[in-house]
Amino acid sequence: MSNYHIKHLEEYYQVYRKSVRNPEVFWEEIAEEHFLWRKKWDTVLSWDFSKPEVKWFEGAQLNITENCIDRHLYTRGDKTAIIFEPNNPKEEALHITYKQLHERVCKFANVLKQQGVSKGDRVCVYLPMIPELAIAVLACARIGAIHSVVFAGFSSSALATRINDASCKMVITSDGSFRGAKTIDLKGIVDEALKECECVDTVLVVNRINSDIHMESGRDKWLAPLLEKASGNFKPEIMNAEDPLFILYTSGSTGKPKGMVHTTAGYMVYTAYTFKNVFQYREQDVYWCTADIGWITGHSYIVYGPLCNGATTVMFEGVPSYPEFDRFWEIVEKHKVNQFYTAPTAIRALAKEGVTHLEKHDLSSLKVLGTVGEPINEEAWHWYDDNVGKRKAPIVDTWWQTETGGIMITPIAFATPTKPTYATLPFIGIQPALICENGKEIKGNQVDGRLCIKFPWPSMARTIWGNHERYRDTYFSAYKNMYFTGDGALRDEVGYYRITGRVDDVIIVSGHNLGTAPIEDAINEHPAVAESAIVGVPHDVKGNALFGFVTLKETGEGRNQDNLRKEINQLITEQIGPIAKLDTIQFTNGLPKTRSGKIMRRILRKIASNDVSNLGDISTLLNPEVVEEIIKSVQFK
Ligand code: WTA
Repeated sequence: MSNYHIKHLEEYYQVYRKSVRNPEVFWEEIAEEHFLWRKKWDTVLSWDFSKPEVKWFEGAQLNITENCIDRHLYTRGDKTAIIFEPNNPKEEALHITYKQLHERVCKFANVLKQQGVSKGDRVCVYLPMIPELAIAVLACARIGAIHSVVFAGFSSSALATRINDASCKMVITSDGSFRGAKTIDLKGIVDEALKECECVDTVLVVNRINSDIHMESGRDKWLAPLLEKASGNFKPEIMNAEDPLFILYTSGSTGKPKGMVHTTAGYMVYTAYTFKNVFQYREQDVYWCTADIGWITGHSYIVYGPLCNGATTVMFEGVPSYPEFDRFWEIVEKHKVNQFYTAPTAIRALAKEGVTHLEKHDLSSLKVLGTVGEPINEEAWHWYDDNVGKRKAPIVDTWWQTETGGIMITPIAFATPTKPTYATLPFIGIQPALICENGKEIKGNQVDGRLCIKFPWPSMARTIWGNHERYRDTYFSAYKNMYFTGDGALRDEVGYYRITGRVDDVIIVSGHNLGTAPIEDAINEHPAVAESAIVGVPHDVKGNALFGFVTLKETGEGRNQDNLRKEINQLITEQIGPIAKLDTIQFTNGLPKTRSGKIMRRILRKIASNDVSNLGDISTLLNPEVVEEIIKSVQFK
């Protein structure tokens, strides 16, 4: 038997050593014993980071939905696969069994086929957190179409960019969505986006809010009547191990979003194996990850990882503050949640509301707590541990990325002793390295550097859709033969890792990665703006707040600055979405630049955080005089 379920620290070290000494043998055993294959592989792994090219389980054939659904039908057919908790607590929760999920995915797959989608086609899914979202994703996987889920908080223009980049032929959306006390006109956003997309010929629309929307004839179709007529059986398409499963966009430090491509077999094996171990999921457990399926966390740890293990996974449509700030705890109590996985920003927001919300609910079902998305500060960690887990539930602080597909550095619940703010140890098979700026690996403990990974792992992204060169440049060119994560980290005296944050121009706001370049591009489109630079400043709930320095053209001078601020934020909302709005906009007469013309964000970051005592040597700047000027203008506010 392979070591599928790790139970204590010694076992972790033992399995870890095995996994790095002979990765092929290790992963072959895991793949062999725990998954359903139509055909086994010829080669476990081939790789070359200089190209970069990575292939896992080449020659194997499978369909991931057979692993997520069909193989559970005999043993777990009547077990709940998905618990759907609606936005409004008065609306009844839905329990979808594996049998029902099978039928619904098959029906949906038949509809996709009838509507002309076939293997390899791209389908954009722009839906709120309703069951149809998970079902649409699985239906795409069943027919071999590549899903590209776009978070339903993105604006029409961000949606259009993503649809066009992957040339999706279909969009699956809903008439609208519920979010707390608000309803959002999703279909209107899609209509607006599609004005710029020629590739889409069909839009399938889920009726979620019963609103009277415009349906473009010949293009838009209500989903329900099509599903009703469809058969509840669908023979899954047989996929090759390295066939793309999905594209998911992530912000880059420059230019347009990167469509990370994940392939089938390696992604499946790694997400399933990490899910089982990190959370120590047991057969009767109810697991809840509060992320949205629009992000990688939802893909890997709401849909694929849990379902591949025959787990019960909760999907929550709403927000933590509606109708009250006790909503998360009410759901934990109601569904007797055993593993709870959320983001530090949510923890901080809830901590701010006080413990009375927690005291109203029985949280004794909780066995494991998880966090993801950004570094968790010590205060939030302890609040989570003391009040939510009552010091009995280990916190797994999981570090990973859209690009890595699955959890990379993390405690294994009950096996790895936790340490506040530390993601602790590399997961089985993961070989991290800390690198100094000149490219040398820093060995030993009590050191810090840039976090890289030295050896391939099964769920790593294989490319950026349509731009392999950018994939190489972004991740494999900084340091030879290494995957560069973009994060900094330190290693303590026992070898535990602590992630210190991004070392590039990506800022994480409330757990969302935002590249500075796309926001600056949006601001610069304002006719009165000459130039802009965005930096992150520490914020006690959001982790980071966005601070923008904006210089105006002559035409902008003398205009009402509050109005300009509103207009700038409006532009950002339209082009990216409300999540990217700036908290502070400071107008300045210039931006500090190097002699080669690069904006010195390091200096701006310090000014924005009111930490101007040690700005370093600014004499080499092209325009050192603006620094003093900017400091004054910020301090006078
Ligand atoms: C950050 C989310 C510290 C990190 C799964 C990474 C973290 C980026 C942690 C990826 C953590 C994620 N501790 N930082 N536990 N988890 N990050 O692509 O900067 O949305 O590079 O994937 O989030 O964010 P993404």
